[in-house]
Amino acid sequence: MTNTHGQNVHKLADYRPYPFVLSATRMRFRLSPGNTRVHAELSLAPRDAQQAADLVLDGGKAVRLLALTIDGQPLDPAHVTRQEETLTIAADALPRHPFLLETEVEIDPSANTACEGLYISNGMFCTQCEAEGFRHITFYPDRPDVMATFYVTIDSDLPVLLSNGNPVGQSQGRAEWHDPWPKPSYLFALVAGDLVAVSDSFTTRSGRKVALNVWVRPGDQDRAGFAMESLIKSMKWDEDVYGREYDLDVFNIVAVDDFNMGAMENKGLNIFNSKLVLASPETATDGDYERIEAVIAHEYFHNWTGNRITCRDWFQLCLKEGLTVFRDQQFTSDMRSAAVKRIEDVQALRARQFREDQGPLAHPPRPDRYEEINNFYTATVYEKGAEVIGMLKRLVGDDGYRRALDLYFDRHDGDAATIEDWLKVFEDATGRDLAQFKRWYTDAGTPRLTMIEDWQDGTLALTFTQETPPTPGQAQKLPRVIPVAVGLIGPNGDEVTPTQVLEVTEASQTFTFAGLGARPVVSALRGFSAPVMLSRDLDDATRAFLLAHDTDPFARWEAGRELALSALIAASQGKTVTGDYVDAIGRLIADDAADPAFRALCLNLPGEEEIATRLSSEGLTPDPDAIHAARELLARQIAETHLDLLSQLYEDMTVEGPYIPDAAGTAGRSLRNAVLALLTRIDGGERAEILFGIASNMTERMAALTSLLRRGRGQAELAALQDQFAGNRLVMDKWFAVQPMAAPPLQAAAVARDLSQRKDFDWKNPNRFRALLGGLAANHAGFHAADGSGYDFTADWLLRMDVLNPQMAARLSTAFETWTRYDPGRRAKALAALERIAASEGLSKNTREMVSRMIA
Ligand code: PHE
Ligand code: ZN
Repeated sequence: MTNTHGQNVHKLADYRPYPFVLSATRMRFRLSPGNTRVHAELSLAPRDAQQAADLVLDGGKAVRLLALTIDGQPLDPAHVTRQEETLTIAADALPRHPFLLETEVEIDPSANTACEGLYISNGMFCTQCEAEGFRHITFYPDRPDVMATFYVTIDSDLPVLLSNGNPVGQSQGRAEWHDPWPKPSYLFALVAGDLVAVSDSFTTRSGRKVALNVWVRPGDQDRAGFAMESLIKSMKWDEDVYGREYDLDVFNIVAVDDFNMGAMENKGLNIFNSKLVLASPETATDGDYERIEAVIAHEYFHNWTGNRITCRDWFQLCLKEGLTVFRDQQFTSDMRSAAVKRIEDVQALRARQFREDQGPLAHPPRPDRYEEINNFYTATVYEKGAEVIGMLKRLVGDDGYRRALDLYFDRHDGDAATIEDWLKVFEDATGRDLAQFKRWYTDAGTPRLTMIEDWQDGTLALTFTQETPPTPGQAQKLPRVIPVAVGLIGPNGDEVTPTQVLEVTEASQTFTFAGLGARPVVSALRGFSAPVMLSRDLDDATRAFLLAHDTDPFARWEAGRELALSALIAASQGKTVTGDYVDAIGRLIADDAADPAFRALCLNLPGEEEIATRLSSEGLTPDPDAIHAARELLARQIAETHLDLLSQLYEDMTVEGPYIPDAAGTAGRSLRNAVLALLTRIDGGERAEILFGIASNMTERMAALTSLLRRGRGQAELAALQDQFAGNRLVMDKWFAVQPMAAPPLQAAAVARDLSQRKDFDWKNPNRFRALLGGLAANHAGFHAADGSGYDFTADWLLRMDVLNPQMAARLSTAFETWTRYDPGRRAKALAALERIAASEGLSKNTREMVSRMIA
């Protein structure tokens, strides 16, 4: 099936099982940078001996076939067809009984710049096979429903040679590995290099002793300890909370410097972007520590949700990713503060997933068509996929969830499963019909939920109306099941009705609360109980009341957020801002009894992107410059009004003693840094300069630097950082990212362009490239500068990157995904940039798909 630009469209409806069963895979690698030899033996059998089928193996262009035999016999070349991405052996040439297929191929890791398949990063061999990288290593049925046990032999002089499973032989120049758990090719991994390990061990609750290693480059050992602690906590948590034990004798983690994504859950051999492993107080921020802990957990949790139970096909990606994100979110809530984690997750969901849902790239958590699967590792598949599971859990209750998950692991261990299988365990374990609920998986778009209150004679009626705007390919949508957690608060601030979950299932539906003495204030969508946009008529005084009294931390924060947004939107439209928000913030600043993390979350104003998304969801055209100015104005107003309180708080919070990146330490620093950002608007940067000079941890130094850059200062601090950390890639990535991100908008593209001309802008390194382009994209008014400079700069570099690393280029092209919501002048410039990309000859399939969806 091809589409208008001649690309292959994959459809869920076309799924067919593979016509052969593969039971075991034996491989031997002779590693050499320019010409690596891969020998593979596949134990195959026809799925149906009556039905002859061609054997189609996937194999990328750069895989060179040297030899091929079946049961030891060379094949007549007439029976073998090599096409661009496949190798086909005609049915006539195949036995009707189990047989052994042997191939010998040559590949060139040193020429592999895409970070997919077998490649070289900083002198070390490593692999990335999800989603379809294995086909660049050898000819293979490279699809997740074909699972085999693996025996791997690695020949190389490099000192450390790793693959999946357990080590079964080590000798000079050779290592052998056996993975007893059948797995699809995307979970294969191999690493060879000059590495050192931070080692520990973990004994599972049934007594299996597991050797744990975090492998890094020599010299990095002292920054790998936190990753190891996080791993041990994750292993324990998965036993305690999900009853899941680890199932091999070793668990290896390797940090690599060139990696397209965050990390990868290869069986027993997780491979990580080094920025998600290496941390020390001097080089990593609190945010980095929290991410490392969460991603280590995420990849570890995949061992059950992803590896033991994998996906039937890539349409089911959210089966493993949504569930594993949900599990890592639960883990972080248990390790840190559940309230803070929930608020942070909702902020991220709105910033990335609601944004995606609003534009031309909107798709359901389970898409039913794609051209390039790598373009579907999205906020919708991951984060919305997790939200959907959160709703399921809310609907069936904690016990129901536990029973459903136990059944899932029991019933599907060893399977390549589907979303239908997943929903069926919930139906069977709880007796609930989930037919309507399934729409959350198959429909795109963020539902708009409107709540109208009616109060009469002690009875409160809440009427909910739901509607989901059209998304590409889905003009009309049926109502979904929306769990709305609601509580009622009396006029004196006491809760009169504790949280209840209302199940909205109709397009419009009313719920009543009778026997109330006085009209209560409704606290709605507590805990953000469903990923919807809720609109209700609420005045600022009531919002301030909820900010003061709501017992649900998310709803409390949300009330403050709504206050801030209404002030910001008024200011961006040139209207005068009421004092409610500024007053409420004053009370929070003075409230020493409140959780510092919560106060920090309230003090950080909504970002410009969030304001634009809100305006656009209300059918308005966001003006990036006006939004930027409004945010500056409001921040300045808060700082001026509360100058004394803020100055005092900043002094009182001076922290001495060792840096600890835990919840309490992080909370204190985040509040103080939020206060600093406000004060810098008044003091000309004096406090930030002092803090940068005396701080020994990166959290405070980056906060100080960011505040200074936003005021057009910070040059001396940038120079100091560079002097100290020129040799530290991860710190220099921050250095590259923060400059375009915090630059005054009209200079942002020029700042990025200057940086791109530096010798140390090693753009072939994915982290460095992402730092610069992502930094600019994070500057809303800078990326969307009216002269088109942000668009042009980004397009130039996407085109350059696309030749080397298509996944990277396609991923960063999402900077443009909101282009349709701006004014005609900006739209014309963005479209011109996108069309320039589209017109480029030899554009990758990855970027082509993204750009054509955005232009469509
Ligand atoms: N499966 C990885 C994860 O979420 C992400 C990933 C996808 C990494 C594709 C590399 C390539 O945990
Ligand atoms: Zn994952």
